[in-house]
Parts: sequence; structure tokens; C-alpha cells
Amino acid sequence: MSEMLNVDPKSSKDFNPYKEIGTKWMLVTSGTDKKFNTMTASWGGVGVLWNKDVSFIFIRPQRYTFEFLENCDFYSLSFFDEKYKPALAKCGQVSGRDTDKIKETGLNPVFDDNSVYFKEAKKVLICKKIYSQFITPDCFIDESLQKNYEKNDYHKMYIGEIVKYIEEG
Ligand SMILES: Cc1cc2nc3c(=O)[nH]c(=O)nc-3n(C[C@H](O)[C@H](O)[C@H](O)COP(=O)(O)O)c2cc1C
Repeated sequence: MSEMLNVDPKSSKDFNPYKEIGTKWMLVTSGTDKKFNTMTASWGGVGVLWNKDVSFIFIRPQRYTFEFLENCDFYSLSFFDEKYKPALAKCGQVSGRDTDKIKETGLNPVFDDNSVYFKEAKKVLICKKIYSQFITPDCFIDESLQKNYEKNDYHKMYIGEIVKYIEEG
């Protein structure tokens, strides 16, 4: 693997969020070297808000990862080559509550000052939580959005300031 560099998001190479997040997926990881969890996500984005470079993710409260996101100040987003798609599929099928995803996938966690990400990733965004809010059905302008939800499983949106942007050099 080539060297990983910490870069300014504005000078990042070819990052198409529709493809990277929507088609190729990402791992959302939160926790510490003592305890962390990771899950696959294909909803979310990157952009600019409050004069900050940010990412935003949408996590249902029943996910084990949700507990880590609630209790930690940081999360990471890891992006991979297509060959890791089976590993990402696994991390989106099973829960860290009852399965050791690291053992199952063979991915190698990297413990940063503030977060946990994966050695195999080709791009990693380390994000500091700055805002979170549950999706509320009262705010749906397009009522058909309700079809994405059963019971009370509305996503919580987390907005994180990108404090480190690491990519292959
Ligand atoms: C392709 C794919 C995309 C997913 N995207 C999301 C998402 O954006 N938000 C979410 O809450 N769950 C999403 N999931 C579901 C979680 O990844 C899945 O429920 C996972 O098992 C949760 O693991 P955990 O309980 O260890 O946190 C996705 C699953 C897959 C396979």
C-alpha cells in the first residue's frame, strides 16, 4: 500500500461522494482502542457548513455503532477499493453486539489519537461531532419518505467537522 498522507480536503483527489458513499459504501467507526465498533453505511455526505468542512451520516438507533457515536466525540469514515466489498457487506449484515467483525473480515484497525479506522482503507476522514439530531416525521415535506421507516427507527443525523483527511499519496 502506498503512503498515507494527511491532506487538505480541498486538494483531495477524485472523490465522488455519489459513487464512494452510495455505490462503494463506507465504514463508520467510533470508539477507542479499548472498545470500538464499525458498520457499513451508504447514506451520508460531505460538504461545507458553518464555514467548516464536514461530513454527515445517518444512523438508526438500533445499531450497536449508535451507542459508540453517542458516547464518543469522534467518528471516522473509511473508504476502500472494490476488493473489500465483501468485508463491507459483512459489516453491514452482522452486529458487533454478537459478532467480532474484525475477526470475520480480517481488517486491521488503526488507533489514532481520537478515533479508529482501517489500515486497508484508501481514504479516511476523521470527524469531530459538532451536531446531531433525530429525523422527525413532522419535518417530512415529501410524505413518501415515511416508507423508509417502521416503528420508531428514525435515523439520527451526525454532522462532524473533518479534522483529518487521510488518503493514499
Ligand atoms: C450497503 C449498506 C448500507 C447501509 N447503510 C446504513 C446507513 O447509512 N445507516 C444505518 O443506520 N444503517 C445502514 N446499514 C445497516 C448497518 O450497516 C447494519 O445494520 C449493521 O449490521 C449494523 O451493525 P452494528 O449493530 O454492529 O452497528 C447499511 C447496511 C448495508 C449493507
